[in-house]
Amino acid sequence: MTDTPTPSYIPATPLPPLPRMLAGQKAIVTGANSGIGEAVAVALGEAGADVAVNYVAGDDAAQAVVARIEAAGSRAKAYKADVSDEAQVEAMFASVVADFGTVDICVANAGLQRDSAFTTMTLAQWQKVIDVNLTGQFLCARAAAKEFVRRGVVPEVSRAAGKIICMSSVHQVIPWAGHVNYASSKGGVDMLMQSMAQELAPQRIRVNSIAPGAIRTPINTAAWDTQEAYDKLMTLVPYGRIGEPGDIAQTAVWLASDHADYIVGTTVFIDGGMTLYPGFATNG
Ligand code: BGC
Repeated sequence: MTDTPTPSYIPATPLPPLPRMLAGQKAIVTGANSGIGEAVAVALGEAGADVAVNYVAGDDAAQAVVARIEAAGSRAKAYKADVSDEAQVEAMFASVVADFGTVDICVANAGLQRDSAFTTMTLAQWQKVIDVNLTGQFLCARAAAKEFVRRGVVPEVSRAAGKIICMSSVHQVIPWAGHVNYASSKGGVDMLMQSMAQELAPQRIRVNSIAPGAIRTPINTAAWDTQEAYDKLMTLVPYGRIGEPGDIAQTAVWLASDHADYIVGTTVFIDGGMTLYPGFATNG
């Protein structure tokens, strides 16, 4: 970090925690040892869910997330698996069901960027992003849906047989030069989510997406860790502050809960207005 950016506005006081609206439920969060996934996993635990913490690298960070969830009074366990590997995903879900009894909530969050100008983007860069961000969500959602269908609705646990939350991005709608692999993966996530939602809704499975904008996490450090970068980023965010992982986490809790029981096949944008085309505020 070269200097410390000064946000034009930061939330003054921390919000009170949501009530334990997920008590008795079992959740799996992929990519849960950092960034948005970590915040979502901890918030689900604080809301009363037992949480399977998936990660692919970084055992200590995963164990730290497990400890935070346990400190909040819920069960948690770390599962190392590459979400783009079918055998590893199937084995992970079998272990989670063996350990926790079932799965009620799947947050398909794991994602990465491999940025490159288009003409020099390698097939490996393209493939890696599609494999993790899109195929990974397919494999995890499929494994979760199979378990939801097997078990069906348990009314004292939830009105739905299960909930899938796909972690998308504003780039499911905003084109992104220099990142065509990433934007393509998130555009794919949107149709994956909607098509799954249409197919699975009759079985009382709710599939939805969260589309974050610029959130302060390791994936986009270069976009916020200097004053210059932060100020440039703010030209894209009408609300005038970067998002924090907690902005995503509380929405995930609510979306997974029965308070959102009639929400099916929707994307919730959490972006401070990034998708409002702020350039048009003074132009066009
Ligand atoms: C990307 C970030 C980016 C944000 C807004 C996210 O999906 O991962 O790198 O800052 O979109 O452009």
